[in-house]
Amino acid sequence: MRRLASKRILNRVRSVNVPLGNRRYEIAIGPKLIQELGPRCQKLSLGRRCAVISDTNVAPLFASAAQRSLAKAGFDPVLITVPAGETAKALRVVERCYEELAKHRLERKSFIVALGGGVVGDLAGFVAATYLRGIPFVQVPTTLLAHVDSSVGGKVGVNLKAGKNLVGAFHQPKLVLCDIQTLKTLPEREFRSGLAEVIKYGIIYDAELFMLLERNLPKLLKRNPGTLSEVIARCCEIKADVVVQDEKEGGLRAILNFGHTVGHGLEAISRYGKYLHGEAISIGQVAAAEISARQNGLPSDDVRRIRSLFEKAGLPTQVKLTASERRQLFDAMRLDKKVSAGEIQFVLAERIGKVVWGKRVEQTAIQMALDAVQ
Ligand SMILES: NC(=O)c1ccc[n+]([C@@H]2O[C@H](COP(=O)([O-])OP(=O)(O)OC[C@H]3O[C@@H](n4cnc5c(N)ncnc54)[C@H](O)[C@@H]3O)[C@@H](O)[C@H]2O)c1
Ligand SMILES: [Zn+2]
Repeated sequence: MRRLASKRILNRVRSVNVPLGNRRYEIAIGPKLIQELGPRCQKLSLGRRCAVISDTNVAPLFASAAQRSLAKAGFDPVLITVPAGETAKALRVVERCYEELAKHRLERKSFIVALGGGVVGDLAGFVAATYLRGIPFVQVPTTLLAHVDSSVGGKVGVNLKAGKNLVGAFHQPKLVLCDIQTLKTLPEREFRSGLAEVIKYGIIYDAELFMLLERNLPKLLKRNPGTLSEVIARCCEIKADVVVQDEKEGGLRAILNFGHTVGHGLEAISRYGKYLHGEAISIGQVAAAEISARQNGLPSDDVRRIRSLFEKAGLPTQVKLTASERRQLFDAMRLDKKVSAGEIQFVLAERIGKVVWGKRVEQTAIQMALDAVQ
């Protein structure tokens, strides 16, 4: 009896609603959801033809299960495999996808399934936003970052040589399926990188989530299914809550950029080679916490807890920069999209669980924060 009950809890599927009027959608979180892809798409009144877009790492692991589920439910899927990694977020890859869609005769009601990490989600979502002026798409994220961040909220796009995410659209998915079993094969470094966004949600929105992470980090690092589901669902709820209040980033959505001013700068000056995104924003969030302590009344004990949680998650909290690298970092931060009228703006914390956005920070304060993470 007891074993049965615990199994039921383990297999529990959580559901988060994103209430965007007639573009509302569900995020389902739990195990074995790829097997439910077909039946769940059936409920969305979509056309028969569809395309699964995935990358060369993810397709061999999960594409056949996804295609099987779709075919069993009466759909006619074609698989499009793109190279793994950030280079796939490019217009020439978008064009190749369009050609494949046309060859498979996808039409207005046909749909795309994005099966992969944030790269595949952003690329496939952009293809869906623009092919035939927009067709439906479903997200099946397979990295922790994609489960908690990129698959929710409707930002899709690709990179140009001139910079990341410079071409894009807002296109909400019809459904997001977070199958936590896909995370079993995710490389350790990628998993920890995703945790940086998870911790961010605690800092910006939810002191209880932050405490839960402090208590349950060992279980999370072991990828315990129950803990994973609970934490991912909470992160998705927070992202959904923020997106619903500010879909097109006019205000509140900016809080999602906590730690990203310095983080994006570090990624840019290392030419996107040295740090994974989560690693860069881990350092960025500790720097933002240091600035918050000096300028925004963040208690020093909260700074200590923030730093300590990133450390325990195995993420970097320090960076050694030469004087010339610091200058490059400032130049990169001034080029970032979050800059308006040449001023570097920050999201700053008041306490764990509460932040404010659009805060002007003097260069000297940024220098002091960089000293603190040096
Ligand atoms: N649209 C948004 O709101 C938003 C938000 C945050 C980030 N992003 C974008 O997301 C991208 C980063 O996403 P990411 O961190 O998921 O990187 P990614 O998609 O490149 O995936 C990381 C690596 O893990 C591999 N992989 C994915 N799932 C796997 C699995 N289950 N098992 C084994 N290997 C697996 C991939 O092939 C890749 O090599 C960036 O381009 C960023 O701009 C978008
Ligand atoms: Zn991020």
